[in-house]
Order: sequence, then C-alpha cells, then structure tokens
Amino acid sequence: MITQDTIQQIQSRIDIIDIVGTFVKLKKRGANFLGNCPFHHEKTPSFTVSPSKEIYKCFGCGKSGNAIGFLMEHEKYSYVEALRWLADKYNIEIEETETSPEFKALQLTSDSLYIINNFAKDFFINALMNTNEGNDIALSYLKERGFREDIIQKFQLGYNPGARDEFSKAALEGQYNKELLLKSGLVVNRDDKLSDNYRGRIIFPIHNQSGKVLGFGARIIKSNDKAPKYINTPENEIYVKSKILYGSYFARTAIDKVNECLLVEGYTDVVSLHQAGIENVVASGGTSLTIEQLRLIKKYTNNLTIIYDGDSAGIKAALRGLDLAVEESLNVKLVLIPNNEDPDSYVNKIGPAAFIDFINKEKKDFILFQLEIALKEAGNDTSKKSIIVNQIAETIAKINKAEEFTRRQDYIKQVSEILKIEENGFNALVNKIIRDKLTKEDLKSQRLEILVTIEDTSGQKDTDHLFNKDELHEQAMVRSLIEFGMKDWDENEKVAQHIFKQFDESDLHEMIDNKSLIKIINIYRQWFNEGIQPTEKNFLYMEDHEISHQVVKLMKVDMEISPNWKKHYEGHIPSREDLYKEEVASTLNYLQLRKIKKMLAENQMDLEKTADPKEQLIFIQTHQHLKKIEIELTKKLGTVIIK
Ligand code: CTP
Ligand code: MN
Repeated sequence: MITQDTIQQIQSRIDIIDIVGTFVKLKKRGANFLGNCPFHHEKTPSFTVSPSKEIYKCFGCGKSGNAIGFLMEHEKYSYVEALRWLADKYNIEIEETETSPEFKALQLTSDSLYIINNFAKDFFINALMNTNEGNDIALSYLKERGFREDIIQKFQLGYNPGARDEFSKAALEGQYNKELLLKSGLVVNRDDKLSDNYRGRIIFPIHNQSGKVLGFGARIIKSNDKAPKYINTPENEIYVKSKILYGSYFARTAIDKVNECLLVEGYTDVVSLHQAGIENVVASGGTSLTIEQLRLIKKYTNNLTIIYDGDSAGIKAALRGLDLAVEESLNVKLVLIPNNEDPDSYVNKIGPAAFIDFINKEKKDFILFQLEIALKEAGNDTSKKSIIVNQIAETIAKINKAEEFTRRQDYIKQVSEILKIEENGFNALVNKIIRDKLTKEDLKSQRLEILVTIEDTSGQKDTDHLFNKDELHEQAMVRSLIEFGMKDWDENEKVAQHIFKQFDESDLHEMIDNKSLIKIINIYRQWFNEGIQPTEKNFLYMEDHEISHQVVKLMKVDMEISPNWKKHYEGHIPSREDLYKEEVASTLNYLQLRKIKKMLAENQMDLEKTADPKEQLIFIQTHQHLKKIEIELTKKLGTVIIK
C-alpha cells in the first residue's frame, strides 16, 4: 500500500488546472477555467474547473470530481493507478507500507509470470516469422485465412514449434524458474521432463488493459478429433478468466471514440474485424459473460452490442449474460450472424462496409429480442404468456436507477405493445416489483415514491431534481458545516460546536437519511475533537470514494458575475460568506422541523392505536407540545429564506 505520507505529498502538489489541462483545452474565465467537456459531446463549453476548490464540474452532463477522480474517469485508472500517475508527473518517490509476506509473494509471482509470458511471446513471434517451420506450417495457414502481416504483428501472433520441448529448452536456458514455468501453463511435466504445452499451435497472446501479456490461447492448425481446438492458459495469479476480455487493449480508444463496444466469441473474430477496420471489438472467449467482464466494458461505454453466431448455442450463451448486463445499466443490443458463419468468416465473405451495414441494420434490442423468442416458444399457450409477462417485468424492473427513468418507460411502452396488454397495468406491475425490492433493501419509502412516480420532463441530465427536497436540505446543512464550521457562531463557540449541540450522535440517524452525509458529519466531529482542520480539501482527497464524491456534490462552483453588471450594481452584493449564520440557522431549523413532523406522525399513530383514556390524554398533550414547537420553527423559517 502507498503510505499516507506519500499520498499527502502528492495531494499537496496537485494542480488541477495542470492535470485536467493535459487532456482538455482550458480557457481562463474569471476565477475558473472553462473547456469542452471530455465526458459528453458539446459545442459550447460548460466544463468548469475551479483551481481554488480543486474540483471540476460539468454543467452540461453533471460529471464532477477532484483531480484524482478526473484521472480515474478519463483514463480509467484505479485510485492507486491515478496516484502513481501523479507521483510520476511530480517526481515524487512512492513509499509503500510494509506488506504482508503473502502479498509480497503474490506480487513476486505475478511479476515473474509477466516476465515469462513476455519472453514466451517473443519466442513464439520469432518461431512464426523467422523459422522455416513457422513460415511453412503456421504463417502460410494464417495468410491462407486472409490475415495480413501487419495485423499478425499488431496482435503479436506466434507459433510454438512442433518438437517436444523447443520452448522448454529455451526457457530453461534463459534461467527461468521451473515451478513458475509450470504455473504459466506454457510447459507441462511429462516423465519428469518439461514438455511444451502448445506444441505445433498458433499462439494468440492475451493482453491486459495496459498491454502486458496475461496468458495465451493456442489454436491447433490441422483439426483433429483427439486434441482440443484451443488450449488456454490455466488460471493462475495473473490469468483470471472471468476478468479477461480478449482484445480490450487494442480496442479501448476505439470504444471510447464510438461509444460502443462490440462483443464477439473468438480470438479470430477480433483479429479479423480489426483487419476490416472495426476496432471497437473484444471477445469473451466463448463462455457466458461474467459480471467482472461487464464492469470492464462499462468503464469505457454503456453501449454493448453482442455479435454471435446464429446457432442456438450462441444465442443461449448470449442470453445468459443479459440480466447481469441490465443490472449494470448497460444498453445491450444483439446481432446474430446467419448461416453458420461467425464474424470472422462473415466479414471476409461480404467485406467491411457491408458488414458494418449489416450490424447497424440487424442490431436488435436485447430485452425485446428475448421477448420475441419467448413469445415464439409460447405460441398460443396463455399460461405460458402470463409467465412471460412476469419475467419481462422482472427484467425491466432491474432498470431502476433514477437516471434510467426514461429508458424504463420506453421499454414499458414497447413491451406492452408487443404483448398487447394495457400499458398502465404493466407499468404498475413493474413499479410494484421495484418497490418490493427496494423495501427489501430497506430504502426509505419517501425516496422510492419519487423514484417511481416523478416524470422526467426537463430532459436535463442533472438528476438533482429527482431527489427529494429533504435530501437537498440535508446536503445544505452538511455543506454549511464543512464551509463555515470553523467560523465563529458567537463569542463562545464555533459554528461546528453550535451544530453539534443541536443533535448528538444518536440523533443523527433521525435527522438525516443519507448515510454518506452522516459519515461526513461523524468524521468532521472526530477531526474537530482531535484538533485536525476539517477543511473541504481534507474531505475531497479521502480514499473513501463515497465520501469524496459526496463532498464534490456538495461544493458549489460559482458562476462568475459579469464585471459589467458588477459595475452597474450600486453597493455590495452579499455572498453566502456574508450570510453564513443565516444559512446555518435555516438548514438546522429545517431538519429540526422535519424531525418534529415525524414525531407528530408517530404520536398520531400511537394515539389511534390506544383505547385507554389515560394514555390518550398523554398523547394529546404530547401532540400539543410538539405542535407548539412546530409553529415556532415554522415562524423562524419564514424569516429566513432557504435556497
Ligand atoms: N474456445 C476455447 N476452447 C475451445 C474452443 C473454443 O477456449 N476448445 C474459445 C476460444 O476463445 C475461441 C472461442 O472460444 O476463440 C470461439 O470458438 P470457435 O468459434 O470454435 O473458434 P474461433 O475463434 O472462431 O476460431 P476459428 O475461426 O479458427 O475456427
Ligand atoms: Mn471462426
């Protein structure tokens, strides 16, 4: 792990304008910098970077974060990778904390496996390109299939000679460790001697995201009933099948550019499509998609188009990944290649232009496609049909994020039409499934009402308006704590102390619903008590992304007031800074009022439940007492305008 000290050093050096400026052209505009947003397409710039707050915010698509978040989003780095990039940029030496012996051993093995694979890759390339055997048997085969030499080189294809141990000998000569060679799957132990595992096969190196070789797929040249068509690297420290997408290293920029990822089954499909100029393509390796693979795709795009053989095995394999993909909010389309062809053979047959045409024309929505297949199978059987209605409702209910509202409604409309059922009824069914699920997940009933009933009419991406007012008030309170907490409330106490007096830790959960806001308040209190400055920046760079993300959401990047307007405006324009006491008071009042309202409702319920006159009297007195507080708070709120 990178030490806290190093992280601190990196953070102190961060210049967000410099970092974002590496990737986005920025112009100074008042106190901020402005540019075209790299995360969505726009002609007039709405991407704002604030050097003083050290954050960026796009007023067009709503994306926001700090410098580290920017690198993670833009470069698809992990948190640690982003830190390493920054350390490299600012020439900061990275200090790592003592790691456990197990972790060290793992890292050592991984590093060695990469080194062995790299050696093997070069050995196989040489055998393919520079030996008679490779030329005659393997290169000629690849060329016969139509692969160009530049593509063969790009994908670093190779050949493992047919003799028993040509590679093994070279590896031992190179002093590579025997255990690790076995682990890499390149060699096997036969009669106490190392033998090559991929003898006489064409080699497809499999790269990770940054181009290092994780393992290999080895294809037989002359099919043979006894031997498998492909032999792949066995699972080891670096080759984890469920996390691998063949071709992702070569596809990442193209996927980013066209905002779509094509998914095929085989290695040769990827290579052929590249050769045809279609580069946004990866392969799953013929098994059904895993959640890790889907998340990998989602780092680059939300649009996944699956291109599989038309045979039933292909369809079944494709359908198995569906629900997971929907849950990951991926927009999945499906294309089936006809007549027992696969993408490789088909693109060779009809040519690149016709192939692209075919894909665009035949692309079918995955959910609707699944529905069509099921309907065909059901025929006239009404009981089967009602099962289908429920199944498809379950699938659509997985599209349940606030920002997916429009997409979900679209499906509800289309599916009702296809099934010839009442749209309102189907809508209710989907909503019920969502609600049941949310209740199970113990979500607050209020928020879910909003989630399922609010119409997204504005068309704007910013989803703040979808959240309920309460959440906005909770955010306002925490924002004023972070921004003004260290200012004086009066002669005796700071704003933070005043706020903490209003509710102690046990109160917190009653006053505030949002769990990450509660976390922030607790951390603030702890820092305050320990004498650590609880500044925005300290929250901004916390490793806990839930917190740093929430803090960025809270922070306001002010739009500049036009200097012209300022000139004409007589006198002083009051800022939030000037009015901080009012802001703190009003947000506190609001939350207190909300708590009182909750208590009133609970008291009312208790009152209705009891038949005992004595108890009734107590409840009525409580009611009157709470009402009085409510009126006072409302009066106070009336005097202060809440934003
Ligand atoms: N596969 C595998 N092991 C096998 C068969 C297939 O791992 N015994 C995986 C490989 O990743 C292969 C993919 O499934 O690329 C698709 O298989 P298939 O369509 O049979 O192979 P292709 O890649 O199309 O190879 P070719 O075009 O040379 O027939
Ligand atoms: Mn094929």
